[in-house]
Amino acid sequence: ENQNLILAIETSCDETAAAVIRNGNEIVSNVVSSQIASQTRFGGVVPEIASRHHVEKITLVIEKALKDANLDPEELDAVAVTEGPGLVGALLIGINAAKAFAFAHGLPIIGVHHIAGHIYANALVQSMEFPLLALVVSGGHTELVLMKEHGHFEVIGETRDDAAGEAYDKVARVLNLPYPGGPHIDRLAHEASEGVVFPRAWLEDSYDFSFSGLKSAVINFKHNMEQRGEKIIPEQVAKGFQDSVVEVLTTKTVRAAKEFQVKQVIAAGGVSANKGLRTSLEQAFAKEEIPFYVPPLNLCTDNAAMIGAAAASMYNASVRGNLSMNGNPGMEL
Ligand code: KG4
Ligand code: ZN
Repeated sequence: ENQNLILAIETSCDETAAAVIRNGNEIVSNVVSSQIASQTRFGGVVPEIASRHHVEKITLVIEKALKDANLDPEELDAVAVTEGPGLVGALLIGINAAKAFAFAHGLPIIGVHHIAGHIYANALVQSMEFPLLALVVSGGHTELVLMKEHGHFEVIGETRDDAAGEAYDKVARVLNLPYPGGPHIDRLAHEASEGVVFPRAWLEDSYDFSFSGLKSAVINFKHNMEQRGEKIIPEQVAKGFQDSVVEVLTTKTVRAAKEFQVKQVIAAGGVSANKGLRTSLEQAFAKEEIPFYVPPLNLCTDNAAMIGAAAASMYNASVRGNLSMNGNPGMEL
């Protein structure tokens, strides 16, 4: 395979990120500027604020990624950037920065799908083998993706309503926890020995998911308790909610891995940082004797290193974009 050095940029949501990746598997530098602190008081991401934050940070973040890598732009082979999906205003800040950089230094530009990035975060920790099954669970996505080779993605199941991370964030709001709620629910869930019993949406004969019924069940449970003048125990609600999410995700991922006889299974996206989910998947696949991998926490949530890793495989397959690239908020995998 070709040797390559790629500068990658990610601005699809609320992290402004840049990284330099060598040969698709080595992180030379990895810079993430999070705006979680400034979004917390709004209880979610406000697109206009996200865009403004990206504008303020993007140049600094790119400069720091190059400085940390001790590189001149002339040593790079390509610039990669998240083309979609995401917030269109946020995407455009990264894309315009990438275009300007590519034009100024005569480099090719490669547009990367955000979810391909999450999946390729795994290439930074181990070598991907096909057929591969990826469970992608983030704030915007819940998908089971079958990969028969590099760059080939088949979505075999997806959420019919809320994404797993979205459900986490909404339930966290019900429990008056700060945004983003996933890590807080994860922590609380581990502080309870018993959880409230909530339903599981199995959607039999399908690899699809549904989390909005579970979210409603949590809201109703709180409402009913309050009507009776009783207080909920947040730890027990958190555990009950997490147990339901984790059991459905694990069961369906195992079933798909066996049906498609995959060589390895990976988890990706912000919710794959969840301790309960990681443990459950690790145990289930140890039992099935199917290799299972999940990247370290900082590569699960949004970052540019993963975009660089996905771009490297595209670069090797001679995929090149051009300077007419536009933000693609609804981009298909
Ligand atoms: O991948 P990501 O950083 O951004 C998107 O592409 O959406 O995922 C963010 C999501 C948020 O919903 C956040 O609550 C969730 O990942 N998350 C977690 C955990 N850490 C982050 N959910 C459950 N448990 C966690 N430990
Ligand atoms: Zn993401």
